[in-house]
Amino acid sequence: MNHILTANQFSKEEINKLFKLTDKIKVSPPINPLAGKILGTLFFEPSTRTRWSFETAMLRLGGQILSMESAGVSSSTKKQESLKDTFKTVSQYADILVIRYPDVFQAAVTYSEVPVINGGESDNEHPTQALLDLYTILQYFPNPNKTKILFTGDIVCSRTVRSLISLLKFYDFEVYQEDNRRKFDNFKEECEELDNLVTDIPILLPKIDILYMTRHQEERWTPRNKSKFQLSNKLANTMKENAIIMHPLPRNKELLEEVDQNSRAVYFKQVKNGLYIRMALLLVVLES
Ligand code: NCD
Repeated sequence: MNHILTANQFSKEEINKLFKLTDKIKVSPPINPLAGKILGTLFFEPSTRTRWSFETAMLRLGGQILSMESAGVSSSTKKQESLKDTFKTVSQYADILVIRYPDVFQAAVTYSEVPVINGGESDNEHPTQALLDLYTILQYFPNPNKTKILFTGDIVCSRTVRSLISLLKFYDFEVYQEDNRRKFDNFKEECEELDNLVTDIPILLPKIDILYMTRHQEERWTPRNKSKFQLSNKLANTMKENAIIMHPLPRNKELLEEVDQNSRAVYFKQVKNGLYIRMALLLVVLES
């Protein structure tokens, strides 16, 4: 069985294969390859993009969906059922599951009798977001060569940043982060070297190729400061002409709507790519 639980599970070869399939799907989506299959989505945390993009992906591939939002109150978890029992139960109905959970659920996955895709796990992992983020980055920078990426916002609690960082290790990126309160294992040296450079973001912006912003995750408890950085269109225009501005969304006040018109803004392209990446993932998992 082919679970997708962490960004770390992918080899560069697998990523290349997945992205080639995604390119193909974009140009000419296969007709009903998943007819007769059912995707179950079980979300214990709010979601707009991840749940709908998976569900749309399944429908576009000819499959069907069983959807449970607010699973914390609408599933038997509310009656103190264990996650293991819930996983075992829902896997009797669906052929594949996408699960979003506010804590670690990897152990419970072993009780599922069908493949499970991690749709966002605490502040820890969001592998499918990382894949669509990387796919988007490579569209603009197909051959990264000391390409500079700066992460801003709630680095400590952002699962999208953590998962994306795991994938960047296959390519030649220089990783910067807004502050030094948490180091990424893979990029420890770089982060240590660059700590001082990234305290003043507007000064660094003109040198950056990719700005990856995140919102402050109010819902998560971890002592940390709130980033004061806010991107206006004026500030965005100080970036290189071919730089890109990314955000997994949802955004709050860190990214002003006026930036949407800026040619560097690609966050809604990320949303669209999310659909194609998830179509490819469903095909790979269900047809393997
Ligand atoms: C993110 C998430 O849920 O981790 N959104 C997403 O899946 N596109 C980011 C966030 O919630 O801030």
